[in-house]
Amino acid sequence: MGSAENNSVTRGRSERRGITSTGQRLLALVTGATDGIGEAVSHRLAGIVDTLLVHGKSASLLSALAAELAPAHPGTSIVPVLADLRSFADVRRMAASIRATFDHIDILVNNAATAGQHPRALTEDGNESIFQVNYLSPVLLVAELYDLLRAARCCRVVNVVCDIHRQARAIGLGCVDGRRYHPLLAYAQSKFALAVHTASLASAFAGSRCTAVCLDPGVTETKLRRKLVVLPGGVVSEAADNVLYAATMRTMPREFYLVGKEIVQPEPELLRAPVQRALEEMTEEALGRRLPWAETAQGRSTACY
Ligand SMILES: NC(=O)c1ccc[n+]([C@@H]2O[C@H](COP(=O)([O-])OP(=O)(O)OC[C@H]3O[C@@H](n4cnc5c(N)ncnc54)[C@H](OP(=O)(O)O)[C@@H]3O)[C@@H](O)[C@H]2O)c1
Repeated sequence: MGSAENNSVTRGRSERRGITSTGQRLLALVTGATDGIGEAVSHRLAGIVDTLLVHGKSASLLSALAAELAPAHPGTSIVPVLADLRSFADVRRMAASIRATFDHIDILVNNAATAGQHPRALTEDGNESIFQVNYLSPVLLVAELYDLLRAARCCRVVNVVCDIHRQARAIGLGCVDGRRYHPLLAYAQSKFALAVHTASLASAFAGSRCTAVCLDPGVTETKLRRKLVVLPGGVVSEAADNVLYAATMRTMPREFYLVGKEIVQPEPELLRAPVQRALEEMTEEALGRRLPWAETAQGRSTACY
């Protein structure tokens, strides 16, 4: 359950570094902040923003993280927010508690993800669990917080993807039904969907003060990596640097895909308006709500790319 109001670890007022020219205080939200890359990103962002919302699914891990971050960054309010991304109800509760407390969000890092499991598992909402945690719930979070993002002086949505999504291209959007289930394939497909979503969002944001990017942070030694493949990865600090770069770099709407710190050409499939539309329709059905950016994105995707 979301806990923005109750669990706030409020520290003293920050110095002026984080206050924008309109007087807004800088606010960031990082999902999956209790481990791996997300934890390292939270440590970095805590030194930059005025308010840092750290998300996790374990109350005890969140408390431990807040207890570490708060004394190290006395000028920043550290706000733990709890939600299991396997549950839409949890995501909605968390978003509602954030909306009740804050009026804008400058940076949203959708970092949380799972490598899933064998055999295929369904969530309480009836979706394949990797697809819900890695794609549907992050998109629901963006939709539920859309007004707060638009209210920021300049907002940036960073979706952490994985280049392995290029393997999912050939199977389109249908593997979630379990006919050819494998966790690695489901993981790749969830990241493909998140990258397509980022293309739509970047397109819908074009011409506004909001931007969306996705990035592959690089092969990194974490719990998720160890579950997916046995080969060792790099250090989390380097991956966190890359996420931070994606969160703060200047970008154009066409430049929405990064590997490390490099803007690379996305799969052409991500940019195809029919692919974006098909995914949005399927997503709206799964979430039982309209996606506030969908209409704008549909009108613009062909013109932009
Ligand atoms: N590591 C790599 O080589 C690599 C490469 C490319 C992309 N990525 C991407 O980088 C991001 C971070 O991954 P990582 O490698 O740092 O993995 P990680 O160490 O396993 O961290 C994943 C985070 O997501 C959270 N999470 C997982 N399932 C959740 C759920 N149901 N509800 C809420 N939170 C949940 C975890 O919470 P708990 O702490 O409670 O488990 C953890 O904080 C992911 O998007 C991943 O796909 C990683």
